[in-house]
Amino acid sequence: MQIMLILAHPKKGSFNHAIAERIHACIHQLGHSVWSHDLYEENFDAVYRFDHADQEDVLVQLHREQIRRCDGLIIVHPNWWGQPPAILKGWMDQVLVEDVAYGFDPDDNGSGVPTGLLHAEQALIINTSNTPLEREQSVFQDPLEMIWKNCVLYYCGIKNVERKVFRVIADSTYEDRTAWLAEAENLVQQYFK
Ligand SMILES: Cc1cc2nc3c(=O)[nH]c(=O)nc-3n(C[C@H](O)[C@H](O)[C@H](O)COP(=O)(O)O)c2cc1C
Repeated sequence: MQIMLILAHPKKGSFNHAIAERIHACIHQLGHSVWSHDLYEENFDAVYRFDHADQEDVLVQLHREQIRRCDGLIIVHPNWWGQPPAILKGWMDQVLVEDVAYGFDPDDNGSGVPTGLLHAEQALIINTSNTPLEREQSVFQDPLEMIWKNCVLYYCGIKNVERKVFRVIADSTYEDRTAWLAEAENLVQQYFK
């Protein structure tokens, strides 16, 4: 199985980095191949400019090729204002484009319902947050749940999307984080057999 792993967190040594490293190792242990991308490390340009000759952007082309071909997708990022960090939003804008991630029938001008083109069977989204679950649901309505499932991944044809939020990072102990890393590993073992 070929898995694409995306990490969007600016700080080396963050818990997000620890999660991604643990997942990377686990994918290898399972005997799968991984295309791993730390978007900050790659200096991924978040801004989609319409005058930009994206055909020539080698990094964007590489990500498009890999998202098209991967069998599984794992994305690790913190909750920032109820959304992915801008660098990851820019990745969505430029990598999950028409004719790569979704397409319309020839007689559809784009106002209809598209066909998802990604063939990955499974996606796993791992988020970190500083908001307790009850407050997230009652006050903020957990926008990341809707963004990743309904707005992005189901739209692009990935039918199975699992999302896990580790919280509250600010209050967490070493033991909490150790247990969460084990949980992240278990999720990979469970969903990417
Ligand atoms: C710009 C910014 C916006 C944030 N917005 C939220 C938010 O809306 N909800 C939340 O629970 N935490 C929010 N946080 C806290 C981060 O989610 C938290 O720092 C991160 O999950 C911790 O992970 P780390 O230890 O890997 O950095 C925000 C942090 C930053 C820097």
